[in-house]
Amino acid sequence: MRGKLTVGNWKMHGGLAENAGRLAALAGGWRAQAGRGLAVCVPFPYLAQARDALAGGEVGWGAQDVSAHAAGAYTGEVSGAMLADFGCRFAIVGHSERRQYHGERDEAVGAKARASLAAGVTPIACVGETLAERDAGTTGEVVERQLRAVIDALGADLPRIVVAYEPVWAIGTGRTATPDQAQQVHAALRGRLERAGARDVPILYGGSVKASNAAALYAMPDVDGGLVGGASLDAGELLAIARS
Ligand code: PGA
Repeated sequence: MRGKLTVGNWKMHGGLAENAGRLAALAGGWRAQAGRGLAVCVPFPYLAQARDALAGGEVGWGAQDVSAHAAGAYTGEVSGAMLADFGCRFAIVGHSERRQYHGERDEAVGAKARASLAAGVTPIACVGETLAERDAGTTGEVVERQLRAVIDALGADLPRIVVAYEPVWAIGTGRTATPDQAQQVHAALRGRLERAGARDVPILYGGSVKASNAAALYAMPDVDGGLVGGASLDAGELLAIARS
């Protein structure tokens, strides 16, 4: 049975002093629970801090991006092996902010997912439609195209990833997809994963998840947890979401 996984995405927020309090609150506030997982994806410079604060406990940590390359002359990039060096369990790939501001295309997202897995770091592959795409009735088509690139890149390794459905219009806007809207897309993604032999890949929902709406979203049969941005900067709020 799939449990519920909650992953915080700090985005480009934080600093050594601020993070220390947040990480201590997570480490102290989370107890292992059957079928429940919690992790935070922090900016690269703070991976060592996250490792030191969380090692030996039940809260995992990860990064928000990873290079598609294993090593070499790629100034500014960070490889999967480097993330593994810091004990990362997860790397987010294909977040809509990477697609939007860095021109990341579907194939690049697939390559990053593959590179991450090759280093032993679980990729959290993000898919999601813009408001214009939703209004045009192309949500299913868009997320299936984005997911297909990951499926094609991973082949038999597909069951080892995590997928996140994050409608772009719901990210950081305070406008959450309704549980039914989320479930509808999650069910379609589940069907596509099943046809690729990976029915049990966890599918997280992301987009303005908070403690007040998490329980209703988590109650949906194909919502296996959440990828939480803004609300993850408040450790108490993230813990409450993870317990939903
Ligand atoms: P949000 O971000 O929770 O602030 O909407 C989610 C995400 O971008 O992962």
